[in-house]
Amino acid sequence: MISFAKSNVYSSQGPRQLMMGDGAAGQVEQLLKGWKIAGGDVLLVADKEVVKLGLDRKVAAPLEAAGYAVAVFDGIVGEPTLEIAEALAGFARQKPFKAVVGMGGGSSLDMSKLAAAFATNPEGVTEHLGATTFAKAPLPLINVPTTAGTGAEATAVSMLSVQGRKAVVLGPQLVPLATVLDAELTKTLPPKITAATGMDALSHALEGFMSINASPFTDTQATTCMSIVARWLKPAYEDGSNMEARRAMIYGAYIGGLTLNAGVVLGHSVAYTIANRCHLPHGVSCAMALPYTIAYNLKAIPERISQAADLVLGKHGSKPEELVTWVDELIVALGLPRSLQEVDISETDVPAMIAECVERYPRPTNPAPIDADRLKVLYETMVTGDIVRAVEYYQGG
Ligand SMILES: [Fe+2]
Repeated sequence: MISFAKSNVYSSQGPRQLMMGDGAAGQVEQLLKGWKIAGGDVLLVADKEVVKLGLDRKVAAPLEAAGYAVAVFDGIVGEPTLEIAEALAGFARQKPFKAVVGMGGGSSLDMSKLAAAFATNPEGVTEHLGATTFAKAPLPLINVPTTAGTGAEATAVSMLSVQGRKAVVLGPQLVPLATVLDAELTKTLPPKITAATGMDALSHALEGFMSINASPFTDTQATTCMSIVARWLKPAYEDGSNMEARRAMIYGAYIGGLTLNAGVVLGHSVAYTIANRCHLPHGVSCAMALPYTIAYNLKAIPERISQAADLVLGKHGSKPEELVTWVDELIVALGLPRSLQEVDISETDVPAMIAECVERYPRPTNPAPIDADRLKVLYETMVTGDIVRAVEYYQGG
């Protein structure tokens, strides 16, 4: 499962410290003290939903009791814009903050990375779009996810929307110093969000496993993540109060985030073209694209896909197409859409989606070359959810 066949040089990154357990969000102080930050101002970056639910207090109250002054920036919304990032950068420079804590879904965690970096660096956010380095080290950063899926708490990337288009700030200095996984924060997540975010984590694992940049490090994370999701996503979806399932999924999502060191493949590109036409949660569009992405790569990496099938099915000698079927059935079991027509995308949209996929979201990491002719079958079969025809076509050529 973990391949050592390649001789390439790889580097992988992730948080330096991990703290995990029920109630761990209340122990952020322990991390700060370990870094010789014994008091002073701490910036807490959270999204409005987290503040509305009072989850921010789970971090802030114990910190305040320990003598820290906590300032909350709660202006984060889904798909944060450049304007929000600039406002946050300004906020982060207002006080001599000693550390930053990001709390929430992927957007808050991503924005907290920018808060930590721009608190110590005076430039505008636009000057650091793309792969970048900062002259001064960012403030110590802790990420506390409240969903189980995006993996943002493990990565070096911050995604934002600049004039309606997705943009990134990316660099090893943005990786959180520590991640805190407290499954109690995810206990009240509704089933729909549990399903969507869990499928995002599975997409990271399976796409990272298929990536031509997969390494022994990411294989380790990917195989662990897919095993966890296979065992625990449905129980977490069916009974949100199942804490064993919640613990498993918040850990699986983190491990899935580490898999992103290999990069994602075609699936996330197809997912963006879906999301650009209807407002679906990221994890739902990723889930829809996933079986077709595996099908697309069946002929390029059959053995690898068989290995993944063995893992999720808990047996030996699986045929590669069994992985496609397993993902497709999981989507149905989680009540997610499995065809484009279910989300009001029709055959007439296909030519524009193909062009957008090829031009705006190229994926050199994908094991099978991406070209418009082959993509046509992917999108056409996805319109009606005809995954069987997709498998037959891609296995044939
Ligand atoms: Fe994702």
